[in-house]
Amino acid sequence: MFANLPLPQPDEIVPLMIQASEDHRAEKVDLTVGVYRDDSGHTPIMRAVREAEKYLAVNRTTKSYVGPLGDPIFVGLIQEFAFQKKIKSKFIRGIQTPGGSSALSLILNLIKKAQPHMTIWVSDPTYANHGPTIKSIGLKLKEYPFLNRETNKLKTDSLMSALDSLGPKDAVLLHGSCHNPTGLSLYEADWRKIADIAQKRGFFPIIDTAYQGLGSGIKEDAKGLIIMAEKVNHLAVSFSCSKNFGLYNDRVGCAFLMGTNEQEINIAQTQLAALARPCHWVAPQNGSEIVRHIMLTPQLKIMWLEELSAMKKRIAGLRQKLALVLQNETQTKKYDFIAKNSGLFSILPGTPRQMEILRKDYAVYGLDDGRINIAGLSKNKISYLAKSIATVI
Ligand SMILES: Cc1ncc(COP(=O)(O)O)c(C=O)c1O
Repeated sequence: MFANLPLPQPDEIVPLMIQASEDHRAEKVDLTVGVYRDDSGHTPIMRAVREAEKYLAVNRTTKSYVGPLGDPIFVGLIQEFAFQKKIKSKFIRGIQTPGGSSALSLILNLIKKAQPHMTIWVSDPTYANHGPTIKSIGLKLKEYPFLNRETNKLKTDSLMSALDSLGPKDAVLLHGSCHNPTGLSLYEADWRKIADIAQKRGFFPIIDTAYQGLGSGIKEDAKGLIIMAEKVNHLAVSFSCSKNFGLYNDRVGCAFLMGTNEQEINIAQTQLAALARPCHWVAPQNGSEIVRHIMLTPQLKIMWLEELSAMKKRIAGLRQKLALVLQNETQTKKYDFIAKNSGLFSILPGTPRQMEILRKDYAVYGLDDGRINIAGLSKNKISYLAKSIATVI
């Protein structure tokens, strides 16, 4: 039955995660997997989530199926959050999905159905799941310039001119904030330029929003999406609650479509639900009920916002400190970009071999492309990490 199946391309992160978990050296620094950790190295359940779980354990009355679009109240709350209630003149429709990954996958499947010959453009580099998802759906994949590996800055000019050469047969996947893996942010002026180009050229923007609230703040992290939505006629958004609610394994997310014609957008939304039908049919409700309860209960919402803000501040603090210690260690400003990046990740300027040496000889675990998860760092390991990096790279 399965004898002719080739082995799929291996996932880089999982073996490294396992390798790190089996490494018991006291000095170990595991910066592989993209999850938030507290200072003790633990990925916590947020207090607001715990309170909502307690409430739901007593007050939930059913676990029956919801409709194919998911829970409309949850979807409406996430829509308000993602678009900050700003887009009034266009039609936005959403569907609940099992996490941001499924949202993106459904959007791409919809593109394949509507425009089978479309090319999907991703940043160089991008989140490791983007390429395989696009290719598995049978869409063409191309890269636009993004990271200047020499300077660790955005390749702004070549990014803009690449986008300026696209047209209506192209879709451009952008990260809403906290770019994975580079931590580079598009400034407001960059978003405005890209939105102008999108409008002029007619390409279709897809915005992957997986870290709202963990970069510069909830409103600030939504800015790019809003600028784009105000400018163009059509766009899609994949939204994840994995990181900003810490609900990674509950699989909570939404896919949104925006258009100017109510009939067209209603049909597109129904098509999204039809695409989900042979796959997961309806999204899981446990995590979305938690999010909904938090969002609708003022004291829990305040608690969650405070926790989210504390997580954001911890990450920013770690960035400042690591950059400073690296400045002292190397007597250069080579690593200052770490303080300027935002969100969970930054890319170290190391070769795959140097990243391997860091793992083997120093118990410092990052990915071969140099990606490290700053949010996985404890304060008492900063000095050791900086010394190791300065020695090896
Ligand atoms: C850019 C980006 N999009 C989507 C996801 C996946 O989100 P989810 O866990 O909700 O599927 C991640 C997770 O690391 C991510 O970095």
